[in-house]
Amino acid sequence: MVQHWDLFLAPYKQAVDELKVKLKGMRSQFEMQSMHSPIEFVTGRVKPIPSILDKAARKGIPLDKLEEEMQDIAGLRMMCQFVDDIKTVVLLLRQRTDFEIVEERDYITRKKESGYRSYHVVIRYPVQTIKGEKNILVEIQIRTLAMNFWATIEHSLNYKYSGKFPQDIKERLQRAAEAAFLLDEEMSQIRGEIQEAQVIFSRKQDNPDE
Ligand code: GTP
Ligand code: MG
Repeated sequence: MVQHWDLFLAPYKQAVDELKVKLKGMRSQFEMQSMHSPIEFVTGRVKPIPSILDKAARKGIPLDKLEEEMQDIAGLRMMCQFVDDIKTVVLLLRQRTDFEIVEERDYITRKKESGYRSYHVVIRYPVQTIKGEKNILVEIQIRTLAMNFWATIEHSLNYKYSGKFPQDIKERLQRAAEAAFLLDEEMSQIRGEIQEAQVIFSRKQDNPDE
């Protein structure tokens, strides 16, 4: 069984490793041109076996249907500074030719009841193996640093309470999600004003008499 899991998960691990390099490469390209990078950092993981088993049981997914029915065995996360950066990243992903987008889920326009916000893109990624090409489903979650802060903490508390939050904690997490939303809004506005000031400043430098 252990060997079976190693074999099953090997292409997922390869997909995560390759995509980490590729998506981090996008960030380096912006940096190289001294442009604001819409990508702050990238992480990736293969879902641990106990989590795969838990989720399969929870969702009634037979173990021989994992490949088609569990989309997040391979998972990547792309963190952005600003909400607007998320759109930029999605556009960049859509124009790539090394994978195909299968599905997009927008939990930003429409947040989840928990307060969760993120943009999910599920891709079909071809991994090259010694037995030929193997297509793997990979879930890419794109979110701001504030969204990530909230989701990370909510996830660890969820784990602690086995998903059954006391009502007051649930409400406080919803309020914390609202605070993260407001933080994102405020940062976007501040950024907008700074950019405006920079435009005025550079115009003044070009035409000092203006
Ligand atoms: P899953 O069974 O969780 O995959 O739900 P789903 O198939 O409906 O997909 P969905 O897009 O809702 O969620 C996929 C992933 O998003 C999860 O595995 C989490 O990483 C993340 N996610 C979704 N909802 C929440 C939430 O309320 N809190 C946190 N922390 N993460 C969430
Ligand atoms: Mg899912």
